Amino acid sequence: MITLHWNTGYRNGIPETEVEERFRTLLRRDGAGNDFLGWMDPESIAPEDLISEIVAEAERLRRLAKVVVVAGIGGSYLGARAVIEALSPAYPAEDQVRIAYAGNSLSEDDMHDLLELLDRTDYAVIVISKSGTTTETAVSFRLLQAHCERKYGAQAVERIVCITDKEKGALKKLAVRKGYPCYILPDDVGGRYSVLTPVGLLPIAVAGFDIRALVHEAAAMKGEILKQGVAHDAVRYACHRNTLYRQGTAIEVLASFEPRLHYIIEWWKQLYGESEGKEQKGLFPAGVVYTTDLHSMGQFMQEGSRLMMESFLTVASPQNSCAVPMLPEEENLDQLNYLAGRRLHEINRQAYLGTALAHEDGGVPSLTIELERLDAENLGRLLYFFEFACAISGYLLGVNPFDQPGVEAYKRNMFALLGKKGYEQEGVALRERLEQKNA
Ligand code: PA5
Repeated sequence: MITLHWNTGYRNGIPETEVEERFRTLLRRDGAGNDFLGWMDPESIAPEDLISEIVAEAERLRRLAKVVVVAGIGGSYLGARAVIEALSPAYPAEDQVRIAYAGNSLSEDDMHDLLELLDRTDYAVIVISKSGTTTETAVSFRLLQAHCERKYGAQAVERIVCITDKEKGALKKLAVRKGYPCYILPDDVGGRYSVLTPVGLLPIAVAGFDIRALVHEAAAMKGEILKQGVAHDAVRYACHRNTLYRQGTAIEVLASFEPRLHYIIEWWKQLYGESEGKEQKGLFPAGVVYTTDLHSMGQFMQEGSRLMMESFLTVASPQNSCAVPMLPEEENLDQLNYLAGRRLHEINRQAYLGTALAHEDGGVPSLTIELERLDAENLGRLLYFFEFACAISGYLLGVNPFDQPGVEAYKRNMFALLGKKGYEQEGVALRERLEQKNA
């Protein structure tokens, strides 16, 4: 179960008719980006037979490999990493299949270290790219494929799985040519909304988590939203953040008190950043993990420029128990005996409550999204909650929440600077600009 608390009150300055209209537009599927609404139906993009197939494929990979490398960037890895890290123990058992990530940067040192690990470990690779041409993923996959073929020879084909577009794109062609198993990211699902397709589900299943529960609960959240309509908290969250935006708020900070939710925050940042940050509009999505970041960003949150709203993401019940030990009075030098017998979760909870009140006093409006527990069921609900809210929020903002035209600008420059065919003129102009800057 997910509960939303409006810590500093629900703000809604958006006319009811406007909210109704945006909600209906999404449901009628006739708004901007309406060819990318496949994510709205978790039970259609992840039907039971596909889930069974993915679970079987994951079992096969788990038998073959101690490390499974997930190569992808942006929407092609963040959802999987978010769920896997949220559900994984902080220090997994040695005999657990380990998930490693590649293709999400161009760091030579990171790639070198990964290849060294793969030299001494049995591994498999899941390469994920809808377009098949994303430089970070394609470059790292070249290296991984070459390593795999060197290490396993003809058996490499059993150790590489592709997830890509159904027919377009280089990766699909490569999969067919080499005979790699291949799963499809449906045409009508964009990268950042793809966590409940094979893009997220295969890596999550390989990590040993219950993808059926994830999908079923996402579908249950959809059912709830359809039943409650604009009264649902997902819609209210979209209205609240747009109201604050219209009143001058510039940043939304998603703050968790659980370090293992770090990648949920990263996934959320991409979802909202790429969906809304266009046409010089949108709340800048930022993230912090408390209490760690109370010792770095806490000062700014309390007293810095008043630009932000804060959304806390909390977990009501931990899975495990760990209490503060009592010390003999003469050893109570840290004066912490008053906490003896109390669980860390309770202390963390008071830290959250204290932080929320302090930031309220500092003039930061806040809300809390609370998960009953950190499990696949609650995460499935949370993912769908944020996706649906993001779509409505983008429509309220007046942008197409399903495209990302701005991402192309850096790519063009990079291709031009690297000398890619077709970018020669731009390359000359950019190099001149760089020379002038350095002169
Ligand atoms: O959300 C998106 O669409 C992007 O973040 C993409 O997922 C990302 O750019 C990777 O693209 P591709 O899957 O084509 O390699």
